[in-house]
Amino acid sequence: MDPDGGVTFSDLPADLVEVVQALDPSRLLVCETGPAAGRAADAEGPGAFDLRPVSLDGGEVVLLDQRRLPAEEVYLRLRTAEEVASAIRDMVVRGAPAIGIAAAMGLAADLTNAGEEVSARRFEAAARVLREARPTAVNLAWAVDRMARVFEEVRGGDASAIREALRAEALRILDEDIAMNRAMGRHGADLVPDGATVMTHCNAGALATGGYGTALGVLRAAREAGKRLRVIACETRPYLQGARLTAWELVREGYDVTLITDNAAGALMARGEVTCVIVGADRIAANGDVANKIGTYTHAVLAHRHGVPFYVAAPSSTLDPATPDGSRIPIEERPPDEVTSFGGTRVAAAGVRVRNPAFDVTPWPLVTAIITERGVHRPGPEGYEFVSRA
Ligand code: MRU
Repeated sequence: MDPDGGVTFSDLPADLVEVVQALDPSRLLVCETGPAAGRAADAEGPGAFDLRPVSLDGGEVVLLDQRRLPAEEVYLRLRTAEEVASAIRDMVVRGAPAIGIAAAMGLAADLTNAGEEVSARRFEAAARVLREARPTAVNLAWAVDRMARVFEEVRGGDASAIREALRAEALRILDEDIAMNRAMGRHGADLVPDGATVMTHCNAGALATGGYGTALGVLRAAREAGKRLRVIACETRPYLQGARLTAWELVREGYDVTLITDNAAGALMARGEVTCVIVGADRIAANGDVANKIGTYTHAVLAHRHGVPFYVAAPSSTLDPATPDGSRIPIEERPPDEVTSFGGTRVAAAGVRVRNPAFDVTPWPLVTAIITERGVHRPGPEGYEFVSRA
C-alpha cells in the first residue's frame, strides 16, 4: 500500500490480478481502490460530480473499471494507446462519450510516455488502434479526429509543446462533454413532468460520459429543478449495464429506482406505469435513426404501441451526418460467452450457436424527440434535419 492509499499491483487480490493481466500488467503502474480514487475536486459527497470514470493524471489515463461494478470501485492507470484500446474493447470503460474521452486521453498519454519518439508515425499508430477498438459509437472516431487535427497543427514543434497541446485538447474534450451533458439536462428536464416514472435502458449516466450523463443527466436536471421522479432501469441483457451500473449510480444518489428485466418493459407500459422512456445513443445517422444498446429498439416499438413518449439524449459528438441512415451504422457483435454464461457460470446448452449484437437501430419515426446540448429537436416529414446539418 502506498502512503496515499493506492495499492500496488502486488497488493491486489488474485482474481483482480487475473483481470488486469489482460491489460498488459507490465505497463500497469498502480490500481487505486475506493470511492475517493477517481473523485473530482469539486465533489462534496456522493453525487453525479464525484464520479469520474475517465481522467488524466500526468502521463496516465485513470479508468474506473466498470467490469467490477457494483461489487468494487477499482481504478486502473494506463500509459499507452494499446492499453487504453484494450480497456475500451474489454469494457473497463464503456458508453459512447466515455470511450471517446478515454481515446483522446490515451493519445495524450501515449505520446507523453513515448520518450523522444513524438513522431507522426507514433501518433498515427496510436490513433489507429484506438479508433478501431469498438465500431459503433461514433464518439470514438470523433475524438481521435479532434486529436489528429491538433497534432497536425503542432507536429513541427518540439516534443514538449506537442505533448502539452494533446493533453490540453484531451482535457477540453472532457470538459466540453460535461458541459454538454449539463446543457442537455436543462433542455430535457422540461420534457419530464413532476411525478413522472421514467424508463431507461443500459447506462447513459455519469459512468458512460465525462460525468453527469446524457439520459441520466436529464433525470438529474429534472430532480435539481425540484421534480419528483421514479426511475425504471431495464437490466440490459446480456452485459447488465442497467442492473450493474445504472442501478448503482442512481441508488448511491438516493433516486427512487426500480430494476426490471428487459422483458417486463412492455407489460409495465401496457399498465400505464411508464410516463416516458429516455435513453442515450452511440450514433445518430443523418436522418435521425439512432443506434443504441441492444434492446432499445424493442422499447421504442413498445412505447409507440402504448403512446409513451420515447426520447433520446445525446451530445453533438454522437451525431454522424456522414452516415445517411441507420442501415449504414456498423453494429458490433460481442463474444458468445456474454450470452451463454451468467455471472461466470455457463447457463446455455453446450454446442448452441449464438448471436450477440451489442447495439440495434431505432428508426427515427419511433423517436419522439432528440435532446442535445443545443435544445430539444423534433422530426420533420423526412426525419431529423438538424443531424444532417451538424
Ligand atoms: O456497450 P456499451 O455499454 O458501451 O453501450 C453503451 C450504450 O449503449 C449507451 O446507451 C450509449 O453509449 C449512450 S452513453 C451516454
